[in-house]
Amino acid sequence: MNRNLEEIATQLDALSPAEGLALIATLFPGKVTFSTSLGMEDQVITQLIASNNLPIHIFSLDTGRLFPETLDLIARTEAKYKTRIQVYYPTTSSVEKLVGENGINGFYDSVENRKSCCQVRKVEPLRRALAGNEVWVTGLRAEQSANRSDLKRLEWDPANHILKFNPLLNWNFVELVNYIEATKIPYNPLHDEGFISIGCAPCTRAILPGEDPRAGRWWWEDSKKECGLHTR
Ligand code: ADX
Ligand code: SF4
Repeated sequence: MNRNLEEIATQLDALSPAEGLALIATLFPGKVTFSTSLGMEDQVITQLIASNNLPIHIFSLDTGRLFPETLDLIARTEAKYKTRIQVYYPTTSSVEKLVGENGINGFYDSVENRKSCCQVRKVEPLRRALAGNEVWVTGLRAEQSANRSDLKRLEWDPANHILKFNPLLNWNFVELVNYIEATKIPYNPLHDEGFISIGCAPCTRAILPGEDPRAGRWWWEDSKKECGLHTR
């Protein structure tokens, strides 16, 4: 990270998530985009952007395999915050090729097949969504997994050639839930059924109390449980 960015990172450390988002929007006008999976963290960030009227674009990646509850939440969120969440879809020809080769649920057959599916349905559309921007805002939190524990609030993402800002990085789960309740933020009803981290329907299941928060993602795999959006 160059000196200028180090200074911004230091400045951000003293700011709240809302203040940090405002600073980033001012420093990179028209070049900041936020990816929402409609998860709890993302719903907080959407609320902060909308209620502070910040000029930050919001998008979501519809893989074609999301839960209907997640799609409904896009509509509910747009209505509540009077905003538009731009939805990106995978390329038809790539999905047709993938499904033709591996089968409709081929991701269960091997980690390789699963990663190919995530590549086509998430990573490639992400590249299109990030194009032309300078900062990518995400809802990553350090507590979510060992993999994410040493992330920085502001860091360079070499895979996507973009600065990544993770405003809620240091929030814990209790803070997150308390903020959602206090602020009456719309959330996915699946959270009340034991789903914590929610991705695609065939690749997510509910977890038991005490289980790792990401244990319900790709539960059949003994892998790092990342889809390739956040490679490091
Ligand atoms: S994942 O890599 O395992 O799928 P996770 O669900 O923890 O990621 O979400 C982490 C962050 O990645 C979210 O806060 C969001 O910024 C981004 N993200 C994940 N999935 C999507 C999606 N379908 N659309 C847009 N952003 C997403
Ligand atoms: Fe495909 Fe599952 Fe990855 Fe979704 S999470 S893109 S269905 S492998």
